Amino acid sequence: MESHPEFYAARALLEWQVELGATEAICDTPINRFELPEAQPKAAAASGAVAPAELPKGPQPAAALAVDAVAVARAAAQSSGDLAALSEAMATFDFCELKRGAKTTVFADGSPDARIMIIGEAPGRDEDSQGKPFVGRAGQLLDRMFAAIGLSRSAPDPEASIYITNIMPWRPPQNREPSPEEVAMMMPFVARHVELAQPDFLVLMGNTPCQALLGRKGITRMRGNWTTALNKPALPMFHPAYLLRNPQAKREAWHDLLMLQARLRGGS
Ligand code: URA
Repeated sequence: MESHPEFYAARALLEWQVELGATEAICDTPINRFELPEAQPKAAAASGAVAPAELPKGPQPAAALAVDAVAVARAAAQSSGDLAALSEAMATFDFCELKRGAKTTVFADGSPDARIMIIGEAPGRDEDSQGKPFVGRAGQLLDRMFAAIGLSRSAPDPEASIYITNIMPWRPPQNREPSPEEVAMMMPFVARHVELAQPDFLVLMGNTPCQALLGRKGITRMRGNWTTALNKPALPMFHPAYLLRNPQAKREAWHDLLMLQARLRGGS
């Protein structure tokens, strides 16, 4: 057998498949999926893919079967009439790979009636296990920062409270940055979240929400400069995780907190 050339060809093919990540044989005979009449749509974030309602009936070429995850997210977000419905819509949205590795869907914490809505990046390990945003070390610093200007996520009075969420509700593996495709498919949910909570001001914590909502990053230059995101006045600030690594930057963060406080009190 080993001297037969087909053996080497077959072994090379098998090695190639193993390298690609195929770890088990599912069928004895190959299936031509191009000829399957009722193939299931696959999730894909690729632009140009179609929303499910737009799929024509009958057999489709494989390329046309990719569902536009952004369109699905947009439809789910738009049909959510309140925050509870939005939270449920996010928890049942199955097109983002990050969900598979996460224990919980981290929606929000604090008071939805607060005047300030803080938007961070994504849950870490502590947030994933507790199902709440910003509860680890960075979150504890965030709490201390806002307490310094008299605000807290547990305050019952909307004037004294904050509302906290993230761009991404699922923890990325090894706390990597969410990819542009992952962010794109969650954006309709973030936009609807802001629309339903109706805060007076947004605080964008670090580069990820700046890139997602303003289309640019460079937090060192952007922080402390009021801008507009989702039709709301928005203040980019250093992420508290950055402040833990760079305590000398707390001085700028304090400056930004005072700006925010002045704006809350009706100043410029
Ligand atoms: N960092 C974030 O951006 N969000 C969290 O919830 C926790 C850490």
